[in-house]
Amino acid sequence: MKGLILSGGKGTRLRPLTHTGAKQLVPVANKPILWYGIESLVAAGITDIGIIINPETGAEIQDKTGDGGQFGAKITYILQTEPAGLAHAVKVAQPFLQDAPFVMYLGDNLIQDSLDSFLQRFQENRSDALIMLKSVANPSAFGVAKVMDDGQVVGLVEKPTVPPSNLALVGVYFFAPTIHKAIATIAPSPRGELEITDAIQVLIDGGQRVDACQLAGWWLDTGKKDDLLAANSIILDDLTLATNGGHVDEHSRVTGRVSIGAGSRIIHCTIRGPVVIGNDCHLEHCYIGPYSSIADRVTLVEADLEHSVVLADAKVVGVHHRIVDSLIGQRAHLTEALRRPKALRFMIGDDSQVELTP
Ligand code: TTP
Repeated sequence: MKGLILSGGKGTRLRPLTHTGAKQLVPVANKPILWYGIESLVAAGITDIGIIINPETGAEIQDKTGDGGQFGAKITYILQTEPAGLAHAVKVAQPFLQDAPFVMYLGDNLIQDSLDSFLQRFQENRSDALIMLKSVANPSAFGVAKVMDDGQVVGLVEKPTVPPSNLALVGVYFFAPTIHKAIATIAPSPRGELEITDAIQVLIDGGQRVDACQLAGWWLDTGKKDDLLAANSIILDDLTLATNGGHVDEHSRVTGRVSIGAGSRIIHCTIRGPVVIGNDCHLEHCYIGPYSSIADRVTLVEADLEHSVVLADAKVVGVHHRIVDSLIGQRAHLTEALRRPKALRFMIGDDSQVELTP
């Protein structure tokens, strides 16, 4: 069994962050999203992993993630020169996959369930494909499946106006090598991509066995800001770790589960967990509220922030209003001149400069 993680794509929904970086490297609780997928595969015993990368962000992903040694895996990077669809990515990965069955994991998805029981079901049923489903309130925004009582899938539709069920396709799929033949027969969809749903439909129409399992736990597609913030909150809730590798002065109050990285200095601050603070940060006269993740080398002075994610090397200084539900990009600087606005809500890209003036 091999693993294939898709970490190419366009990332249009997370612009402007994705103009300068890979969306799969955006951190959730200070760990790149992509790494959760790798860990999930390794936990299920799948250690031979291919990662699809694109020409723009591939080097960054490769630099940060390495050869897999830190995860107990062997990682092979596979270049997809254009984001021509999920099935196209599988096609490009064929020399790596050969005739092995594999798990395909979308690099911007997170699921709570472990893969073990799904893998067992896939192997026991000798399925050609096993897809994961989750009931959602707005199925029209997803790929949707029509499933029989015994779990066999009879049809798939991409973003239907009249959904056949409320069961959305989650970004984790198990495939037998028969999928390659199915992919070879499909043509690009109206949006110009080779769709994996079309390839699975070919399996169904050809009488091959496509099963479905419903996820018990949460599923997050972190491709958008609010989903990313939701993922951050859920992961912070699950984290039991509360450590202090930095320095907290006697005027600071730290309550709840708070992790502070090595070399970070907390001066005159109130921090209410769950919060994670990376290495070498400088926080002075701040309130940091629940569900915030502060990456490495961030400076926060006279700042008031909660339910937000701040990326590496960002600076927020003298902003005397609460920052909520915000995602602040790498190296972004945020300063305020006068005390005016009542509420602030941001999505700020890498290298941005924001000054709030009356
Ligand atoms: P999507 O989020 O569906 O597509 P996208 O990355 O192009 O993003 P957006 O919709 O915001 O423009 O892709 C799911 C995952 O699969 C994501 O990690 C990127 C990856 N992917 C590839 O590796 N190759 C591809 O051709 C496509 C379409 C996606």
